[in-house]
Amino acid sequence: MTAKIISGAEIAGKIREDLKKEISELKEKHGLTPGLATILVGDDPASKIYVGQKKKACEYLGIYSKQVDLPSETTESALLSLIRELNKDAKIHGILVQLPLPEHINQQRVIYAIDPDKDVDGFHPVNVGKMVIGEKSLLPCTPHGILELLLSSGIQTQGAEVVIVGRSNIVGKPILNLMLQKRPAGNATVTICHTMTKDLAFHTKRADILIAAIGRPKAITRDMVKEGVVVIDVGVNRIGTNSEGKAILAGDVDFEAVKEKAAAITPVPGGVGPMTIVMLMKNTVEAAKRAEVRGQRSEVGSANLKVN
Ligand code: GUN
Repeated sequence: MTAKIISGAEIAGKIREDLKKEISELKEKHGLTPGLATILVGDDPASKIYVGQKKKACEYLGIYSKQVDLPSETTESALLSLIRELNKDAKIHGILVQLPLPEHINQQRVIYAIDPDKDVDGFHPVNVGKMVIGEKSLLPCTPHGILELLLSSGIQTQGAEVVIVGRSNIVGKPILNLMLQKRPAGNATVTICHTMTKDLAFHTKRADILIAAIGRPKAITRDMVKEGVVVIDVGVNRIGTNSEGKAILAGDVDFEAVKEKAAAITPVPGGVGPMTIVMLMKNTVEAAKRAEVRGQRSEVGSANLKVN
């Protein structure tokens, strides 16, 4: 069997075009321009690239974007003050602080400081709690993107054995919660593996859908999967540079070997990555619409904006 390649780039492209239309309508009919603030502390090269991609996506879509680059010595209290300012800024509907942060800054305190209504990463405990109990909330972008990939590719998740490798707050834990819920791309039986799992291959070989979010290149090998598995590879690992000095990327899955056994697989790059960015844009638009509706509710004549 040679796998169907699930093109996140293509699926994200369609969502992006729909968003572009929606944003232009929001501007024309409601005078509403969604706004996103991104904060980068320090000069981690990968983080710089991610933040740059987010800014470019905003420009393409017509989202107002404010990028704040801070030196790595920035104090926690200076970062918290900036977040408080952005919380009050009516032009900003979403705030994203690129992670990881330098060691001297407490990541949790920073996440707590973001207004949950502007938390387009879906990392604030209020949004995490709502997600876990299945209430409407801003969903974390990578897990949300994975759900969309599965839905768009027509992959059956109901009753499926889903095995996640990696228990991060950004990917592993939220995708675990989302896929076990009674929701589209949910209703699965979910197992999560981590560094202390005794026999990783025992679990991965049982998977109908395998989600790898490990952070180690090609960690999932051909002998670790069963014939016909659907593989979602979240890893983006730099394994060298090419002759033009550009990074050579590899996922957490040995793509070339595993694709011979899988029914479907996401490539790296061009799989989960583009979905993460477009879901961030979608969250920003959603946050802007909700802010508009909240504003209008306090005025005469209710909103005719539809929010999810
Ligand atoms: N670093 C790696 N992934 C993410 C993400 O989804 N959001 C933020 N803010 N930082 C990240």
